[in-house]
Amino acid sequence: MKTENLMEKIVSLCKRRGFVYPGSEIYGGFQGFYDFGPLGVEMKNNLKQLWWKWMTKEHDSIVGIDGAIITNPKVWEASGHVKNFVDPLSECKKCHHRFKADDLKDDKKCPDCNGELAEPKQFNILVPTQLGVIEGEKTNAYLRGEACQTIYLNYKNVLNTTRLKIPFGICQIGKAFRNEVTLGNFLFRQREFEQWDLQWFCHPSEMEKWFEFWKKERMDWYKSIFTNPKNLGFYKHEKLAHYAKMAFDITYENSPCEIKEMEGIHWRGDWDLSGHAKFSGQDLSYTDPETNEKFVPQIVETSGGVDRAFLFLLIDAYVEDGERVVLKLHPKIAPYQVAVFPLLKNKPELIEKAKEVYGDLKKEFNVAWDDRGNIGKRYFAQDEIGTPFCVTVDFDTLEKDIVTVRDRDSMKQDKVKLKELAEYLKEKINV
Ligand code: GAP
Repeated sequence: MKTENLMEKIVSLCKRRGFVYPGSEIYGGFQGFYDFGPLGVEMKNNLKQLWWKWMTKEHDSIVGIDGAIITNPKVWEASGHVKNFVDPLSECKKCHHRFKADDLKDDKKCPDCNGELAEPKQFNILVPTQLGVIEGEKTNAYLRGEACQTIYLNYKNVLNTTRLKIPFGICQIGKAFRNEVTLGNFLFRQREFEQWDLQWFCHPSEMEKWFEFWKKERMDWYKSIFTNPKNLGFYKHEKLAHYAKMAFDITYENSPCEIKEMEGIHWRGDWDLSGHAKFSGQDLSYTDPETNEKFVPQIVETSGGVDRAFLFLLIDAYVEDGERVVLKLHPKIAPYQVAVFPLLKNKPELIEKAKEVYGDLKKEFNVAWDDRGNIGKRYFAQDEIGTPFCVTVDFDTLEKDIVTVRDRDSMKQDKVKLKELAEYLKEKINV
C-alpha cells in the first residue's frame, strides 16, 4: 500500500474509532495540536507503562522523576536553547508559503508553486509564556522545549536522596512544546507533544561503551514492540544539535513523512551540567566515593517521541486483509486485550453469563464488551482497533463452561475452559 494513502487511512481510522481527534475541532481546529480519544489514551498509556517498567524495573540504577513544565527561564539560556534552538525559515516570494529550510531539496525554489524563495530567516522555536497577573510586572518564561532539562536540574537532588552511584540513569515521560515552523503529517510534528527520555550519567572514560550500550538497548526495545521490526533502522546525524557531539536516530523506515526519526540517541557529554554549573554558580561535579576522583559526569541521552512511536506503531500494524482492516498491534499495546461477546443479545441467560466473564476478565485485562450486530461484524470491529482476542459466550458456556476464543491474526478459534481462560490469555498476551 502507498504510504501517503496509508497516512490518510490511519488519520481516518483514528478519528472514526476514537484514537485521536483534531485539537479544538469545533472551533475549526488549531494547527499542531491533537487530543487523544478513549482508545488512543488506553493505547498511549499501555505504551508509556511498558516503557516505564522497562526503564525502571528491568534496569538497575535507573529512577524516574516528573519535573515541571515551566522552569526558571535561565535554564534555557544555560542549556543553549535561547541562542541555538532555531530553525531557518524560507518564505516563497510568490505564494508566501513558509518552509523549514533544512527540509527543502532546492533552497531557491518553492516546492508548492515554483516561485522564488527568499533568503532563510532564523526563528527561535521555544514557546514563550508570561507569568503573574499585573501588567508590566509579568515574568517571561518558556514552556519546556525539551523534557530532559529538569533531569539535569535535579541530578544532585536524586543523588542525595537515593543510594545511586555513577553510572546511573534518570528517566522521565513528559510534555514538550515547540513553535515548529512546518507542521503537518498528523502526530509526527506537533507544537505540543510527549517525550520519553533517559539521561545516563557516567564517567568520561566510559562514554563510548554506554553510548553503544544504549543505542542497542533502545533498538532492541523498539524491535520487541513493532509488528515488523525489519522496518526499524539507524541514521547517523552529520549536522548536530548544539548540545550533541554525536547523534543517531532510531528510524521507522516505512514512514510516510520525509523524516523517519522516532528517537534520538545523543552524546551530550558534559554540555548540560557544565552549562547549568556556570549559569547557576552551583558545583554540579561528582566525587567518586571510592576513589575520591572529582569530575563532571558525562551524559548519554535517549530521547524519543511518544506520539511518533504511537503513530509509527499504528502504521506498522495496519493491514487490509480482504474485507477486514486489522491493526496487528502487540497485545500489550492494543487498547483492549480482550473483547467479550454474548452469542445472542436476546437470551438473558447468555447475557448474564457473558457479563460474569467480562467482570472477571476486567480484573486482569483491558476488556471491551460488544453485543451489537452479528458475531462476524463484532470480530471485524475489534480487528480494526487491534483487539487480539475475542471471547464468545455461547450455549457451550452455559452447559459445559467452555468459551470460544478467536485470535485476531490467524482468525483461528479455540475452545477454552472458563476456569483456564485467564491463564490462557495471559500466556498469549505476555509474548
Ligand atoms: N532532549 C533531546 C531532544 O529533545 P529531539 O531530537 O529534538 O531531541 C526527541 O527530540 C524526540 O522527540 C524526536 O526523536 C521525536 O520523536 C520527538 N519530537 C521532536 N519534535 C517533535 C514534534 N514537533 N512533534 C512530535 N514529536 C517530536
